[in-house]
Amino acid sequence: MSVQDEIRRLTAPDIRARKGGEPIVCLTSYHAHTARIVDAHCDVILVGDSLGMVMHGLETTVPVTLDMMILQGHAVMRGSKKALVVVDMPFGTYEASKEQAFMNAARVLKETGCGAIKVEGGKRLAETIGFLAERGVPVMAHVGLTPQAINTIGSFRAQGRDEADWARIEEDIVAVSQAGAFSVVIEAVAEPLARKLTAAVPIPTIGIGASVACDGQILVLEDMLGLSPRVPKFVKRYGSLGPGIERAIADYAADVRSRTFPGPEHVYPRRATSLGYRATRPGGGLWAGLEPFVADIFHEVDEEVRRERLKKLWDRYSVHLIALAVLIVAAIGAWRGYEYWVAKKAAAAGAAFEAAMTLSEQAKYSEAEAAFDKVAAEAPEGYRVLARIRAAGALAQVKPADAIKAYDELSADASLGAALQDLAGVRAGMLLVDTAPLADMRRRLDPLTEPARSFRHTARELLALSAWRNHDLAAARRYVDMIVSDADTPAGTRARAEVLSALIAADGKS
Ligand code: KIV
Repeated sequence: MSVQDEIRRLTAPDIRARKGGEPIVCLTSYHAHTARIVDAHCDVILVGDSLGMVMHGLETTVPVTLDMMILQGHAVMRGSKKALVVVDMPFGTYEASKEQAFMNAARVLKETGCGAIKVEGGKRLAETIGFLAERGVPVMAHVGLTPQAINTIGSFRAQGRDEADWARIEEDIVAVSQAGAFSVVIEAVAEPLARKLTAAVPIPTIGIGASVACDGQILVLEDMLGLSPRVPKFVKRYGSLGPGIERAIADYAADVRSRTFPGPEHVYPRRATSLGYRATRPGGGLWAGLEPFVADIFHEVDEEVRRERLKKLWDRYSVHLIALAVLIVAAIGAWRGYEYWVAKKAAAAGAAFEAAMTLSEQAKYSEAEAAFDKVAAEAPEGYRVLARIRAAGALAQVKPADAIKAYDELSADASLGAALQDLAGVRAGMLLVDTAPLADMRRRLDPLTEPARSFRHTARELLALSAWRNHDLAAARRYVDMIVSDADTPAGTRARAEVLSALIAADGKS
């Protein structure tokens, strides 16, 4: 049993058995790479003699040789695994006699390994087809437009458009079928005739410019991919590779001209290990010659093991990695969206805050308070706090008692943080300093005079003033001493404390 036995290719009898069944999908291919792609989707790959026109730019298929067919047939066999590969017999290699046909067909089968050959012609070839089929050569016939006959028919025009021609073409197809062809290509014939021909024979018909009723369809690959400059009416283009290839080549040319290709990732660095090893073994001897090869082999084995390991890891974790990547992309998207939303809100809040400030500066205190309240209710956290403090400030101008209440609420709100709470506390103290009893002021402000508190200097000053106003000179002196003895007291506060100290001293004497 050879290793080839593992590959189960479709055979001519498999295709023969598909008459009237699932449509037979066929395409041409002339080389290994396209054969690999076509093979995945097609039942039959035809190495057509159209390769003369497609690959070699010939005007017709007439000059194509058997060697050309064998070379490309071989390539297609190497590129494919499962499709039946059929190789065209070119003009002049099978028409002279059935013996000539057999000798050449046998060469094609032997040298390419393909599963069948194709010949163009009807009734006149029946005897040859029979001869070949009886001798182990599966034959696909080809009727209707037969391009190899271009020099006698004059042009590549559709056949059987006049009903008068139908009988002759029908005779052709019946003859090749009866002779033993396993299938038959019908090329460029009137649609109703192709339908009739398909019904007339027990072998599968493969249409090209024929009818959807045929048992299968074939197109020239380059025509349907949009690579051929001119195509017959019956070609449907399933791609347009021409412009894509052109763009790629233009990009390549530009990279080469600007020396941006090859980049560092496309060139080979020096191999450190093998060079290092060589350097430790100077001199001649057998090893000197073998070292590079041995080093190469180890390197390749290493590479192989590494690749195998990576593949296993990938097989195992690829789903998780892909899921993770999708999650990361989604999370980044959501985070960016959130940042945009926050920035938009902050900008709107900033504008509203500015507007409220303007109202306050224009002494429109009630309106300013309402505007600040709105910012405080709707804006992001930072603006909200600022707006509440400014709203209380605006209120102080019109309703001091309400402002003190607002400041008290702020100074009790732990979510503001200690510094802003203290700020609210001293603001309330400022409003009260001229009227409140000292005991009330001390209850409010004594805790704020502690060394670590942010507004201790103002709190101490307010208390000193309140004590002096309430005639508690000892207390007033104590607060003035606190101000003067704190090295961090701002110059303005210190200067005012010294004035107050003088006033207290004067009061003490009177
Ligand atoms: O040569 C060829 O490609 C063909 C097909 C068009 C059927 O004969």
